Amino acid sequence: MIQDEIRQLAKQKNAIIMAHYYQRPEIQDVADFIGDSLALAQQAAKTDADIIVMCGVHFMAETAKILCPKKKVLIPDPTAGCSLADSCKAEDLAAWKEQHPDYKVISYVNTSAAVKALTDIVVTSSNALKIVGSMPEGEKILFGPDHNLGSYINSETGREMALWDGCCHVHARFSAEALILLKKEHPAAPVLAHPECKQVIINLSDVVGSTQALLNYVKAHPETKQFIIATESGILHEMRKACPDVEFLPVPPETTEGVGCMCNECEYMRQNTLEKLYNCLKNETGEVVVDEQIAKQALLPIERMLELSK
Ligand code: 13P
Ligand code: SF4
Repeated sequence: MIQDEIRQLAKQKNAIIMAHYYQRPEIQDVADFIGDSLALAQQAAKTDADIIVMCGVHFMAETAKILCPKKKVLIPDPTAGCSLADSCKAEDLAAWKEQHPDYKVISYVNTSAAVKALTDIVVTSSNALKIVGSMPEGEKILFGPDHNLGSYINSETGREMALWDGCCHVHARFSAEALILLKKEHPAAPVLAHPECKQVIINLSDVVGSTQALLNYVKAHPETKQFIIATESGILHEMRKACPDVEFLPVPPETTEGVGCMCNECEYMRQNTLEKLYNCLKNETGEVVVDEQIAKQALLPIERMLELSK
């Protein structure tokens, strides 16, 4: 079986296979480590493997490479991008900074290495509230690229960060009408949403948190037998494994055109397949390279994030 061959190759090469919760179920099952964006960065920072295979999108592999410049970092499909990261080009951020010289820059981890290099502190959805909340009152902040996450942080912390106008096309397309209907049909089911969702979805939710936080919430409430989930549907695999007697009801996207099913899937995350993982591990292809100077500058705000997340 291809899964056995992947495991054997990983052992032979002292490689660690990491996977984001939005990866295909079969990739999650073959991985050594599954996590959200923060957990993947933390694990990369401390692994003693010689090779890191990052089953996620490109910025995740890039972050691992910046943290481990001496290690070989591979991604099964190097073209797996992110619409959110693509919405903020380094030159545009540089121009925004120039217009706001006395502002600190806080960037979501869903950004390129070049954007991180222009950033003061990186955050993920796991630690953004804590990190922004720890900034001195009155600190002027530019936050990007996710506008929905930035608005959510502003409303929770009372800050008035200036926000970049980007979004994750997956989280932005959940249908509020479908969620209202699901809530009517299942009034006892709590609604769990990712902060990349639109305000209207957040307002209809009971719990807002990162992928890991939502999974933790489900595990901590074994008495609840139904949950409504508004995040990328890859997380359902781990939720169902952890709580097999619980029903998870995914909120569908506004339109299923181009999505293919009633679940809301990120097509970039799904670009990695078992075959691509096998080939990349066998031939050590899909190596992630980051310009040395940019990597050096990008490391500082990532390290600040890891320090502030302890
Ligand atoms: P987290 O992994 O921080 O939950 O972010 C979700 C996401 O959209 C990753 O691309
Ligand atoms: Fe990017 Fe959204 Fe896909 Fe995450 S789910 S990789 S933020 S497009």
